[in-house]
Amino acid sequence: MELIELISKRYSTRAYLNTPVEDEKLMKVLEAGRLAPSACNIQPWHIIVLQEPSSIEKMRQVCRAAWILQAPVIIAVCIDNDKAWKRADGVSYAFVDAAIVMDHMILQAAELGLGTCWIGAFNAAEAASVFNLPGHIKPVAMTPLGYPDDTPREKVRKSINEIVHWEKF
Ligand SMILES: Cc1cc2nc3c(=O)[nH]c(=O)nc-3n(C[C@H](O)[C@H](O)[C@H](O)COP(=O)(O)O)c2cc1C
Repeated sequence: MELIELISKRYSTRAYLNTPVEDEKLMKVLEAGRLAPSACNIQPWHIIVLQEPSSIEKMRQVCRAAWILQAPVIIAVCIDNDKAWKRADGVSYAFVDAAIVMDHMILQAAELGLGTCWIGAFNAAEAASVFNLPGHIKPVAMTPLGYPDDTPREKVRKSINEIVHWEKF
């Protein structure tokens, strides 16, 4: 499948079968994240994988969306902001780096027939507690990972003309 087809095919999956995700597929998804580029190649990320039903159950206190708990795997990308590259004006690229890791994993999952959904709406303090994060490691985004129990939705996106500016805004 061409990359553009895969990108078009991926959608946010919000219902999951309880079919387990094969270890080989999970490792391939994690490997795609590991290979992500990062500013200055610092790789300021840590990836938390939840598979134990008791760990996944604890996500109730982290996310309000109960459907997340249907998935057999939950993956969270966390960052070490102290280590991340900072632009000359002080802006940290930690979130950018974390987003690339997540996007690599999500696209790899789609290629394997697995569903995912970016989750940015969560209680960061509760997540830090459930993941046992040291104080300097912050959760950025998470996703359930599993076989979809829903149907793909049509992509709703702005047109190229609305978002692309040639030479100037
Ligand atoms: C950074 C980010 C955070 C998101 N957070 C949530 C979330 O907390 N809950 C949720 O259901 N979807 C979340 N989404 C999914 C978006 O709603 C979804 O990507 C968007 O509506 C486009 O739909 P599609 O992914 O099916 O193409 C998030 C997406 C991104 C990129």
